[in-house]
Amino acid sequence: MPGIVYFSSVSENTRRFVDRLELPAARIPLRPVDAPLHVKDPYVLFTPTYGGGDGQGAVPKQVIRFLNDEHNRSLIRGVVAAGNTNFGSAYCLAGNIVARKCKVPHLYNFELLGTAEDVTRVREGLGQLWLQQ
Ligand SMILES: Cc1cc2nc3c(=O)[nH]c(=O)nc-3n(C[C@H](O)[C@H](O)[C@H](O)COP(=O)(O)O)c2cc1C
Repeated sequence: MPGIVYFSSVSENTRRFVDRLELPAARIPLRPVDAPLHVKDPYVLFTPTYGGGDGQGAVPKQVIRFLNDEHNRSLIRGVVAAGNTNFGSAYCLAGNIVARKCKVPHLYNFELLGTAEDVTRVREGLGQLWLQQ
């Protein structure tokens, strides 16, 4: 069964969004001492954007570590990014970067915790994506 892989920092905004999807999801660990995540099935990656808009560090280092694993990278089918519109042109920049590097579609952006409409649209979008696979 394809699924969701997500990263969320201590503020846990992304975790709360993913929880509301009520779909199977695996979390990329926060701390370097935690055992790394290895996936077996295709997934859509959900990642918040960090870096503060200067173009550096937009993709969290935990996500980079996860994607540096070639097998994990081979199974990504799309990316959903989170961010804060206060960051202007760097809003959800992590999604653009992952999409370009991994050559997968940048499926959706949501702000902070996301809205009820975001949850509905992402659930529908994921359903359609998995039907196409
Ligand atoms: C230090 C810092 C830098 C951030 N930089 C960006 C940014 O460049 N672009 C953006 O869209 N959001 C940025 N954000 C907002 C986060 O992506 C947003 O708060 C997100 O919901 C955090 O998700 P999380 O709580 O799951 O880690 C930044 C937040 C912090 C605290």
